[in-house]
Amino acid sequence: MRRTKRLPLEQLTPYLCEPPFPEPLDWRAVFGNDRPVEIEVGFGKGLFLLNSALQHPDVNYFGIEIMRKYQLFTATRMAIRQLTNVRLAKADARHFMKVHVVPGSVRAIHVYFPDPWWKKRHHKRRLFTAEFVAACTAALQADGEFRLATDVAEYFAVMTELCTAQPQLALVNTSEVVDTSAGSFLTNFERKAQLKGTPVHRATYRKRTPETTSPTSGGTTDTTTPPTIS
Ligand SMILES: C[S@@+](CC[C@H](N)C(=O)[O-])C[C@H]1O[C@@H](n2cnc3c(N)ncnc32)[C@H](O)[C@@H]1O
Repeated sequence: MRRTKRLPLEQLTPYLCEPPFPEPLDWRAVFGNDRPVEIEVGFGKGLFLLNSALQHPDVNYFGIEIMRKYQLFTATRMAIRQLTNVRLAKADARHFMKVHVVPGSVRAIHVYFPDPWWKKRHHKRRLFTAEFVAACTAALQADGEFRLATDVAEYFAVMTELCTAQPQLALVNTSEVVDTSAGSFLTNFERKAQLKGTPVHRATYRKRTPETTSPTSGGTTDTTTPPTIS
C-alpha cells in the first residue's frame, strides 16, 4: 500500500462533516446541490468512495466512519484529487443512520466488510442489528439499494437474515465469488480477501414500493465497474 501523507486539517475541512450534526441533515446544505446521495458505512481507507466519486461526479457520496484516522486519511485522498462530491462524517453509523438521515432521502447504502467481531461475547458490537437494518431501510428512497459484502460467511448469513426479515426490502441478488484477478476489488478489505483466496459474499436489496413488480429496474451507480485507483 502506498503511503499517503495526511494533508493539514485546513485543506481537509471541505470534506469533513463535523459535529454537532443537524437532526436531520439537509443534503442540499451538505453538498450544495440536489444530486442523488449514496452513503457508505465504515469506509475505512476510502477506496470505494474514491473510485465511485471519480467515476460518478453527478452523484454525492457521504461516508460514515467511526475512526477519525480513517476519516482524515480518506479526506486526504479526496483532497489530492480535488473531488467535490464527497463528505465524510466521523460517527457511529448505528446512531447516525437513525438520528441524522432524513427518511427516504438516500439512493443507495453500501456496507462493505463490516467488522465481524469474531468472539461471541463481542457480537453485540457488530454493526448489523435489526435496528441498523431498519434505520438503513428508512433512509432509502423508494427503489433505493442496500449493497452488502463480507468475506465472513457466518456474518453474511446474519446480515441477509436481518434483511430478509425487513418487509420493505426485496432481494435483488446474492453472489459468492473467489476472484483473484488483479484490479477487480471495490475496497481495501476485498483486496485482502482476494489475496488470501477467501470467498467474498455479496447481496443487493432494493427498497420496495407499492408499485414495485420487478427487481430489475433502478438507477444506482454500478459498483461492479473495475476501480480506477487501487
Ligand atoms: C473491516 S473494516 C472495512 C473497511 C472498508 N469498508 C473495506 O472494505 O476496506 C470496517 C470499518 O468499519 C468501521 N466501523 C466499525 N464500526 C462502525 C460503526 N459503528 N460506524 C461507522 N463505522 C464503523 C471501522 O472503523 C472500519 O474502518
